[in-house]
Amino acid sequence: MTEYILVAAAWPYANAEIHVGNLTGSYLPADIFARYNRLRGRKVLMVSGTDSHGTPITVAADKAGTTPLELYKRYHAGFLELFQKLGLSYDLFTSTHTENHFRVSQAIFSALLKNGFLYTESQQQWYSTSQNRFLPDRYVEGTCYICGADGARGDQCDACGSVLESQLLLNVKSKIDGSTPELRTTEHYFLDLSKLQRQIVDFLKQRQDYWRPNVLRQSLGQMEADALRGRPITRDLDWGVPIPVDGWDNKRMYVWFEAVIGYLSAAVEYNAIHGDPEGWHNWWHRNGSRSYYFIGKDNIPFHAIIWPGELIGVGETLDELLGSQTKGKLALPYDVPANEFMNMEGKKISGSRNWGVWGLDFLSRYDPDPLRYYLTVNMPESKDTDWDWSDFLRRNNDELVATWGNLANRVLSFAYKHWEGIVPDPGELTAADQALLTAVENGFESVAREMEAVHLRAALAEAMRLAGEVNRYLDVTAPWSAIKTDRQAAARAIFTALKAIDSLKILLSPFLPFTSERLHTFLGGKQPLFGRQVVENRSDALGEHAVLMYDGSQASGKWEPSRLEPGQRLEPPAPLFKKLDPSIVEFERGRLGNQG
Ligand code: MF3
Ligand code: ZN
Repeated sequence: MTEYILVAAAWPYANAEIHVGNLTGSYLPADIFARYNRLRGRKVLMVSGTDSHGTPITVAADKAGTTPLELYKRYHAGFLELFQKLGLSYDLFTSTHTENHFRVSQAIFSALLKNGFLYTESQQQWYSTSQNRFLPDRYVEGTCYICGADGARGDQCDACGSVLESQLLLNVKSKIDGSTPELRTTEHYFLDLSKLQRQIVDFLKQRQDYWRPNVLRQSLGQMEADALRGRPITRDLDWGVPIPVDGWDNKRMYVWFEAVIGYLSAAVEYNAIHGDPEGWHNWWHRNGSRSYYFIGKDNIPFHAIIWPGELIGVGETLDELLGSQTKGKLALPYDVPANEFMNMEGKKISGSRNWGVWGLDFLSRYDPDPLRYYLTVNMPESKDTDWDWSDFLRRNNDELVATWGNLANRVLSFAYKHWEGIVPDPGELTAADQALLTAVENGFESVAREMEAVHLRAALAEAMRLAGEVNRYLDVTAPWSAIKTDRQAAARAIFTALKAIDSLKILLSPFLPFTSERLHTFLGGKQPLFGRQVVENRSDALGEHAVLMYDGSQASGKWEPSRLEPGQRLEPPAPLFKKLDPSIVEFERGRLGNQG
C-alpha cells in the first residue's frame, strides 16, 4: 500500500531573517523527516511558504519605508536562497500571498460560517487618527489600571503580570508614532471554540500515547484547565486575505487563522502545478495518510488547538465549496513534534540585538552539512539547547571529520590506490567481517525506529555509533599494514569497510544530504540519491510569486543495506569535510551583538 506523508513545516514570517534557532526548531527536522520517508518509498509532500500577512509585517514595512508587498517579496527571496543552499527539500515552498491561498482560506471561512462556527461581536478598540487605522493591542502602551505601572501593553502588563483589557488602559499612546489614539467601535468575526472544545479534546486524547509531553501539556493540559473562549479571526487591516462576506471590505483575516490554512492550500497548489488538481486528497482525505507538523513551541496552540478546530468545524463542507470531487472529512494532524528553543551562547537569540547566527551569513563561511549536523545533535527536542561555537568546532572536528569523514576518505583512498579503483574481491568473509556487516544492516531498523518516532537526535546518534563500529573494526583488521604481508586479508577488510560505508551513506543521508551524495558518486553511484531543487516563477491574479520545488524523478536512494559487489568501479575520492581552525571560535563570538 502506498503511504502518503504530509510533512508540514512552519511558515516563516516575512519580516525577519532566518536564524539557526528557526532552522533547528522546525525547517531542518521537517527536511530530515521528509528525506527519510522518501528513502522508504513513501509519497511525501513537504509544504510550507512565507507567512506574508499580519500587522507585524505592515508595521515593519512602514518602518523600512516600503510596502508590505515589497517587504514580503524581499524576505521571500532570501528564504528561497537559504533553503536551496541548506538543501531543505520542500516539494513546494510558496507563500500566503497567492490567489490559490486566498481562495482556499475563503472556502474554509465560508465553510465555518455555513456550519455555524463563526459569530460576530462588536468591540471597542484603539484607533489612531494620525494613521487612520485601528491599533492591535500590542501596539498600544499606557499605564496599567491594576498596578499603576507605566509601559503596560494593551494585552499585558509586564510589571504585575496581569492580562489586560486594552480599552481600560490609561494614558494610552500608539507605540508606532507616540500619538494618542481614541476608542472606536469595530465588529469582528469570532471562531466559536467553545462549540468545538469537546471534539478538539477527543482529537488530542486519541494522540496522547505518542505525542511529546510538552506538546500535550500546552494543548490537552491547557484545555482541561480552561474552557476555550471565542477567538476573533478578523482584523481592521487592508493587507491580507479579504473576508468573503459583503460589507467587510475594509477588514482582513487574522494572520494566524489563515497562515495555518497554508498547509492545505499549498497541497492544492502543488497538485495543480503538477497537473493533478484532485491529487491533494491523497494527503488530506485518504485513510492511512499521516501528517506531521514541524513547529517551534510558541506555535503549539495554533497547531494543536486552533488548526484542528478549524478542520473539525469545516467537516465535509469544503469539497463542495472548492468544487472538488471527493468528499470526506479533512485529516487532523497525526503528530505535532514541536521543538523547544535554541539559545545562542547562553542568551536568547535576538534580531534587534544581532545576537544570533543567521542562516545565509553562516553559509557564506561554512558548508551546509556541518550546520545540519550540529543543529541535529543539538536539536531542542525535549528541552532548550544552546549554540556554543566551541562545541560547534569540537563536533565538526572530533565527530564529523574524525569519526565519519576520515573513515570514508581513508577507506576509499586506500581501495582506490591499491586495487586500481575497483572494489576488491574479499574471498570468504570471516565471522568478524560478517558481524560488522550485520551490525550495520541492523541499523536500517534501529535508526528507522527513532526516525519513525521523530527522535532525530537519537537516530543520528545511532548512525554515528555504527560509524564508530567501523572504525573499531579497522583498528583490529588494520588493512593498512596487512597489505604488506597478507593482501587477501587486506582486501577482505577493505571490502567489508566499503560495504559498511556504502550503507552508512544511506543511514546518514537524511542528515547529511550533500556529502552523502558526493560519497555516493565516489562509490560509483550513477543516479543521485535524492532529487533536485528547482525555483520557478508563477503568476496569478495577485502578481508574480517565486516558488521552490523538489523534483524527485531522478532520485535512486533507498533505505536498504548496501549491495556493493567486487569488481564495481570507484571514482577518485576527496575529503567530505573540512577540519576547522580553533581561531573561528573567537572570531565568531566577536561578531555576536555587533551591529551592521
Ligand atoms: N510565522 C509563524 C512563525 O514563524 C509560524 C506560522 S506557522 C503557520 O512563528 F502555519 F501558521 F503558518
Ligand atoms: Zn500592572
